[in-house]
Amino acid sequence: MSSIELVPGLAGIPAAESSVSFIDGQAGILEYRGYPIEALSEHSTYEEVAWLLLYGELPSASELAAFNKDLEELRVLPDALVAMIQAFPKTGHPMQALQASLAGLGMVSPKVNIKDADSRDQAARRVIAATPVLVAAFERVRAGKEYVAPKAGLRTAENFLWCLDGEAPDEVAAKTLDCALILHAEHTMNASTFACRVVGSTENDPYTSCSGAVGALFGPLHGGANERVLNQLGTIGDISNVEAWFEGKTERKEKVMGFGHRVYKTKDPRAKNLQILATEMFGKLGNTPKYDVALKLEQVVTEKLGSRGIYPNVDFFSGLVYEKLGLDTDVFTPIFAMARVSGYCSHWCEQMLDNKLFRPAQIYKGEREREYVSIDKR
Ligand code: SDX
Repeated sequence: MSSIELVPGLAGIPAAESSVSFIDGQAGILEYRGYPIEALSEHSTYEEVAWLLLYGELPSASELAAFNKDLEELRVLPDALVAMIQAFPKTGHPMQALQASLAGLGMVSPKVNIKDADSRDQAARRVIAATPVLVAAFERVRAGKEYVAPKAGLRTAENFLWCLDGEAPDEVAAKTLDCALILHAEHTMNASTFACRVVGSTENDPYTSCSGAVGALFGPLHGGANERVLNQLGTIGDISNVEAWFEGKTERKEKVMGFGHRVYKTKDPRAKNLQILATEMFGKLGNTPKYDVALKLEQVVTEKLGSRGIYPNVDFFSGLVYEKLGLDTDVFTPIFAMARVSGYCSHWCEQMLDNKLFRPAQIYKGEREREYVSIDKR
């Protein structure tokens, strides 16, 4: 019998050594390359954070300017890829479209030489640059609108809003989205980053590796939760319904979306920052009844489940911010993905530096050495 016990979901089992980000789940700490997330979300930009995650240091002004220029060029999609996205069925979910589009990006990009640092770096930059444009492109397709190409001089968040609406982005909306992208950019060995590393470990390029990661992120237990949180708040409707709604969930042993975390056993620091973003927006653009329902739900859930370490996670307030920006609910997870590709690519690059194919063991529970019986005797 195997001496090694199965650990469901590999909970707490290290899959790699990494220096990209750090979490203290008890204290509610998140750092990107050692910098606290609170400082980065207050002072940095998504592009600066992408550089930090990729290269381990904050960029100089000239490095950042050159990086922005490179991202600007790399976010232009080849016509063949635009045509592919325009041919997607409008009934598809934007995350399905993004997973296919990332594989498609690999189809129209130079072949990656996994052994060459520059080739790896250029491909990683192309994924980071192009992903927001891929998300916006399918949104235009679904709405029956013409493709809007990225605009020179715009950074990631403002360019996404431009490609989405074809209008000059609102400054408050662009700044709010930029901060949300920072908060979603990286998070150690979460399920989708692990998926990226597994696919990459077979010596795959970042297009295929990030496409696999997007598949993992789509699930409701992971990135798909933010979309479901908004639907959940809509179903509850009013703060007077929260207690009864929660009791029903508990009776049916159903999980409350936006709460709980494999690592955090206190309120997710990103949830705190997104809550600040949400209240700042409500101050400028007006409140939403869903926020009052969210606050009541947080109070009820943490009263009942806080002792078991179940608190709001990153997905609990993010949807309120995106809804206030006028974004469709089912594009919330693609927005999570277009931020997280910086983390995926940073982990992919790290994996390539000292790669070992992921091939875990199993504990076999089946029968052995059975005799074949012909069909006429079964
Ligand atoms: C993200 O890993 C990351 O870093 C992910 C992420 C990132 O940035 O990449 O942070 C992003 O995915 C955030 C999580 C978004 N998902 C949700 O909000 C979905 C709801 N949350 C749960 O599904 C759950 O909390 C998980 C999946 C997030 C974590 O669950 P675990 O660690 O696998 O724990 P578990 O499911 O085994 O739950 C342990 C107990 C169970 O009760 P018992 O069976 O022991 O009685 O806690 C209960 C669970 O039922 N529980 C919940 C709950 N989460 C856990 N009960 C009610 N509501 C919840 N949300």
